Amino acid sequence: MNSKNELIEERLPKHLAIIMDGNGRWAKEKGKLRVFGHEHGVKTVRLITEKCAEIGIKYLTLYAFSTENWKRPKIEVETLMRLLVSSLKRELPLLHKNDIKLNAIGNIESLPARALKELNEVIAKTAENKTMTLTLALSYGAREEIKNAVQCISAKVKNNIISLESIDETIINNHLYTRNLPDVDLLIRTSGEHRISNFLLWQIAYAELYFIDVFWPDFSEQHLLEAIKNYQHRERRFGKTSEQLN
Ligand code: IPE
Ligand code: IPE
Ligand code: MG
Repeated sequence: MNSKNELIEERLPKHLAIIMDGNGRWAKEKGKLRVFGHEHGVKTVRLITEKCAEIGIKYLTLYAFSTENWKRPKIEVETLMRLLVSSLKRELPLLHKNDIKLNAIGNIESLPARALKELNEVIAKTAENKTMTLTLALSYGAREEIKNAVQCISAKVKNNIISLESIDETIINNHLYTRNLPDVDLLIRTSGEHRISNFLLWQIAYAELYFIDVFWPDFSEQHLLEAIKNYQHRERRFGKTSEQLN
């Protein structure tokens, strides 16, 4: 069994992002409705969030609802929004206990009023927490994020606030939802699907990718430690040669 002590502290991913996938199939396998899977998925969110803070991850970003997920049946979307409200209400003590600051990325204005209110309240109440930043990607789509950034930068050029020549990667970064977050170091996707599904396209340019054939409700502390251990044994070259790194 893996244990926390087997991790190399200096090689922890600073920013871990997770595509939490497979709730529906997990429930179907058990002959239950998809909703049942989402309810269990919430438990995994709690467990993994707490473990990440314990391990020493500084930034954890969870893909909870994509811009494309609005196309799901109305009843499923409503359930997901209801679960969001109830878990935000319930998990405030857990966030405080672990000194976790909540953050959100995405078109959060498009969330139902109750969810948005709850979200903003928890964000405000945890704003001073320091140990870990938990970012929920809600109504998030990377293409929309990039489109918004392009529009905003273009407007600044048009109005002579910045020059065309001054546009660089830093300026683009500063116009993304993730402007306050470092690049992703490790991206995990559960459920056996090998795709990105419009998540953090800019920010994963040099992320290490890890796919695991386990549905999100079954993703455990052991799976998390295994993924991080695997990451710690990879050589991140960023375009250089192995020899240059050593
Ligand atoms: C992930 O599980 C949760 C959300 C996308 C909201 P899914 O609901 O996508 O479950 P599968 O992939 O259909 O099994
Ligand atoms: C990606 O999962 C979005 C989230 C995990 C929130 P999906 O289940 O929506 O992705 P696809 O449709 O299988 O690519
Ligand atoms: Mg899915």
